[in-house]
Amino acid sequence: MNNGSNLSAIILAAGLGKRMKSEIPKVLHQICFKPILYYILKSVSALNPENIFVVVGHKSELVRQFLSSDFPDAVAVRQENQLGTAHAVGVVRKYYDKLSDNCLILPGDMPMILPETLEAVISSTAKKGYETSAALLTSVVADPFGYGRIIRDQSGNIVKIVEEKDATDTEKLINEINTSVYFFKKKILFEYLENIGSKNSQKEFYLTDIVENLVKSGQQVSGYIAQDSIEAEGINDRVQLAVLEKAMQKRINREHMLSGVTFKDPGTSFVSPETVIGKDTIIEPSCFIKGNTNIGQNCIIGPFAQIEDCRIGSGTKINKSVLQGAVIGNLNNIGPTSYIRPGTVTADNVKIGACCEIKKSRISDNSKVPHLSYIGDAQVGAGVNIGAGTITCNYDGFLKNKTIIEDGVFIGSDTMLVAPVRIGKGAITAAGSAIVEDVPDECLAIERSKQANIEKGAVKFREKKEKQKLQQNRQPENK
Ligand code: UD1
Ligand code: CA
Repeated sequence: MNNGSNLSAIILAAGLGKRMKSEIPKVLHQICFKPILYYILKSVSALNPENIFVVVGHKSELVRQFLSSDFPDAVAVRQENQLGTAHAVGVVRKYYDKLSDNCLILPGDMPMILPETLEAVISSTAKKGYETSAALLTSVVADPFGYGRIIRDQSGNIVKIVEEKDATDTEKLINEINTSVYFFKKKILFEYLENIGSKNSQKEFYLTDIVENLVKSGQQVSGYIAQDSIEAEGINDRVQLAVLEKAMQKRINREHMLSGVTFKDPGTSFVSPETVIGKDTIIEPSCFIKGNTNIGQNCIIGPFAQIEDCRIGSGTKINKSVLQGAVIGNLNNIGPTSYIRPGTVTADNVKIGACCEIKKSRISDNSKVPHLSYIGDAQVGAGVNIGAGTITCNYDGFLKNKTIIEDGVFIGSDTMLVAPVRIGKGAITAAGSAIVEDVPDECLAIERSKQANIEKGAVKFREKKEKQKLQQNRQPENK
């Protein structure tokens, strides 16, 4: 979209959000793993505006932190005291020269808004054959309680906005509401802001008052009614937070389905807005896919997979496992119940089976860690088989040490690999060995004491134990 030439966006996000009953600013509460504010910034960014100003106030350092990590080009502007929406826009005046001729104003708490709708608001200024100097996004809702109402004259022209607390009983019946998305010519906006007072029931400076003032001075204000009222819904409490999280989940999953991803039960899986999923991948029920995750084609993910900030190749299966910050190759088979931690990289055809933990390790083609192992700070070659219960003892209480396992190695079950240690190409370790020294190529390393088989020993052992049990049962206190 390129409506953004000559456009600035001002996002109002300084409010406390009292009804959230929270220590966190309202706009930082998350839906589908991202702050509410993320979504509106994403929609606004799609218009390619020349700049974006975010008015911050309550716990502003947290909002700034989020902006600098996710939208570093957005400019945070501090509103010391929250005296109302007109006052909030007023604090941006100090950037007057930087602001474009056209300003789009939006609330920070309206995550479902789409760029197409913002474009429609902007274009509505030119609908009548001439340009109006302001436009509003309005919405027709079943329950308008709490919102500002749109008052129109007989010919349908917008006359003013009346806040719930200032509305008459008849005005309260109007169900077309102000969404707090506005488009203004910069010059007019700041000229009219000058004259806004706070003579209303909340003693606040209402941005909505500009509309009446414009109309009174003979200007037209156009309106665009949202096609889907969900887009215009704001979040004021945690009930609305849950409702809009569901709506966002539906929107995100629907988009993946329309581009060729199967969701077995889309209502149970949550996917972050940044996630990319390839064609013909199947998302089984109850998956949580967060952060910057990229999943290839033809994968089977879940049920019950938690994946965060991972790259996953094609044809890979991940069953009931937790993966964080890992790069997984093609045709891997992971789980059930394994934990793949940051820094792990697997090549193609790797199997990490049941109940394994892999941390910061590289595993090459065709290698297998099928059962109950911990592999940390290791480099595993190609075609390696790691027996059940193998542990890389990577931490000596002070330092993390590396284990290197070269191509074609067979690690017997229950091997302790005490790092730093290297197992040479084609070597074998015997089950139950504690390997503390490097094993040269093609060697068999065995580290256990010699086994003794005592003749009839089992029989004698049982006899002795039966006797002890009888004696114990005769003593009254053990009854
Ligand atoms: C506002 C509108 C109302 C509209 C509703 C839509 C006014 C007077 N009323 O009411 O017509 O129906 O939004 O949701 O504008 N903010 C600041 N600084 C302030 C005050 C508010 O940054 O001093 C921010 C808030 O963080 C929020 C947005 O502005 O993101 C809207 O403020 P809020 O207090 O929620 O306004 P409403 O009473 O809901
Ligand atoms: Ca609000």
